[in-house]
Amino acid sequence: ANVIVADFVKSSVRPDDCPKEGLPEFALVGRSNVGKSSLLNSIVRRKRLALTSKKPGKTQCINHFKVNDSWYLVDLPGYGYASAPQEARTNWDEFTRNYFLSRENLVSVFLLIDASIPAKKIDLDYASWLGQNNVPMTLVFTKCDKRKKKKNGGKRPEENVENFQSLIREYFEAAPPWIMTSSVTNQGRDEILLHMSQLRNY
Ligand code: GTP
Ligand code: MG
Repeated sequence: ANVIVADFVKSSVRPDDCPKEGLPEFALVGRSNVGKSSLLNSIVRRKRLALTSKKPGKTQCINHFKVNDSWYLVDLPGYGYASAPQEARTNWDEFTRNYFLSRENLVSVFLLIDASIPAKKIDLDYASWLGQNNVPMTLVFTKCDKRKKKKNGGKRPEENVENFQSLIREYFEAAPPWIMTSSVTNQGRDEILLHMSQLRNY
């Protein structure tokens, strides 16, 4: 399941503008700053294919990246970014949700959750919305390299993940598949690629 080539294809702000070949695709979504663009770079072994930033709100469009000429990775704007103008936030939120509901070649959404902080309601709500709309989902815990900090509640990533899992069980009959990752150590990269190839059936 090795990535050989990955190319940026296009940025869209409407589901209608997205590439039309119907190749299988996987979308990365999650709170602003959770590490979506960094994870995409880790998966394709490129440092700056998707643009990342310390400041939340970096990715603002639906960005399609083609892998091995045969499937897409899609980088999306984050949700929950309080400092962006309300109008922009509503707009990003609307087109990403429309994208999830209308994109027929979307194989699975990868919902990213920051493992270095305690579970957040906004993430549980997002997971529940995807579930209610029957959007297939994989949970990806990010920043698993980060050690516990007092200001983050003093919990280890493993404890935060366990806690999130137990909370999410209240929303789902069958818990979604999940993977622990770090874009710093590349933890979880092979597991994600294997999971994606199994979901594509090749
Ligand atoms: P938006 O596009 O603004 O929604 O953010 P994003 O989810 O794409 O996050 P991005 O990849 O830009 O990363 C945000 C910050 O988190 C950057 O400073 C990254 O270096 C850092 N970061 C991302 N992944 C990891 C990780 O696995 N471990 C650590 N320690 N830091 C990470
Ligand atoms: Mg981003």
